Amino acid sequence: MIDSLIIYYFTGTGNALAASNWIAEISEKRNIAAKIIKITPSLVVNSESLPENCLVGFCYPTHGFNAPPVVVDFILRFPKSRNRVFLLNTRAGMKLSKLFTPGLSGLAQLFPALVLLLKGFQIVGLQPMDLPSNWISVHPGLRGKVVDSIFQRCEKITKRFAEKIFSGEKVYKGLISLPFDLLISPISAAYFFLGRFALAKTFVADNSCNSCSLCEKECPVNAIVMKINRPFWTRKCESCMHCMNRCPRRSIQTPHLFVTVIWWLVFFVIPLFILKELLQLNPDEARF
Ligand SMILES: Cc1cc2nc3c(=O)[nH]c(=O)nc-3n(C[C@H](O)[C@H](O)[C@H](O)COP(=O)(O)O)c2cc1C
Ligand code: SF4
Ligand code: SF4
Repeated sequence: MIDSLIIYYFTGTGNALAASNWIAEISEKRNIAAKIIKITPSLVVNSESLPENCLVGFCYPTHGFNAPPVVVDFILRFPKSRNRVFLLNTRAGMKLSKLFTPGLSGLAQLFPALVLLLKGFQIVGLQPMDLPSNWISVHPGLRGKVVDSIFQRCEKITKRFAEKIFSGEKVYKGLISLPFDLLISPISAAYFFLGRFALAKTFVADNSCNSCSLCEKECPVNAIVMKINRPFWTRKCESCMHCMNRCPRRSIQTPHLFVTVIWWLVFFVIPLFILKELLQLNPDEARF
């Protein structure tokens, strides 16, 4: 019997917060008190704040086939407990003609789920949610009508997921793509340990920037510092796209050619090199 809900969320552009709100709506319809708490680098939770029958949820975007580092760090620091828990990762949903296309999770659910399992939690839900892709540094933004129809579809799926969890069912949709998610795990690792730092360095503010500092104030991980009246992106940046979306003057840009070269290195050359090295460790295996 679930008698309360706490959702910890992180979001760059609002998708994970929207999903959290849809779940909280279902919770409140069932007279189950819901709390939604934003994950920040300094948020600390202790086990006393997790009552026995409290359902715990984590909602966050997928970044480079992983959970964002701020979420990974938060889950690693999360207290041990036997509560029921669900994970919902928002991904890059798109729509080609009438076909809704999914994003790719990689380790975005698997690693946090493993950590929570080892901490004693009961995993009752693993649900990816293909909300509109916000990776606008690597592709053009989606049209308003497409965004609306993706949102309508995801709202229904998320609420159905919540109804099932509150009824005591277990939902493991996130495991459907398990073989593929494991296959791309070297790319998840390459992004986590290397790629994200390079991407953080691709943002620049153009001449239209009026030094309003909004980007610095709103960055969820305090990754921007103002230097000589211009934002400067530090390596703490999670590339969550919040600043790019919120800048009132649309001043934040990213050089696409540079991003393409980084993509090629991180997602193709480096994984291939790692794979080659791994195969060479065993002389009986085929070599390139
Ligand atoms: C830097 C970056 C990396 C991303 N990597 C992935 C990915 O590996 N797989 C995926 O499906 N979506 C990926 N996305 C898309 C987001 O996960 C997706 O748009 C999500 O719904 C955004 O949620 P938010 O609005 O809560 O931040 C990425 C987006 C960004 C900005
Ligand atoms: S929000 Fe935009 S205009 Fe304001 S400081 Fe940042 S980049 Fe410049
Ligand atoms: S600097 Fe911008 S993209 Fe990077 S974490 Fe902060 S808000 Fe997100």
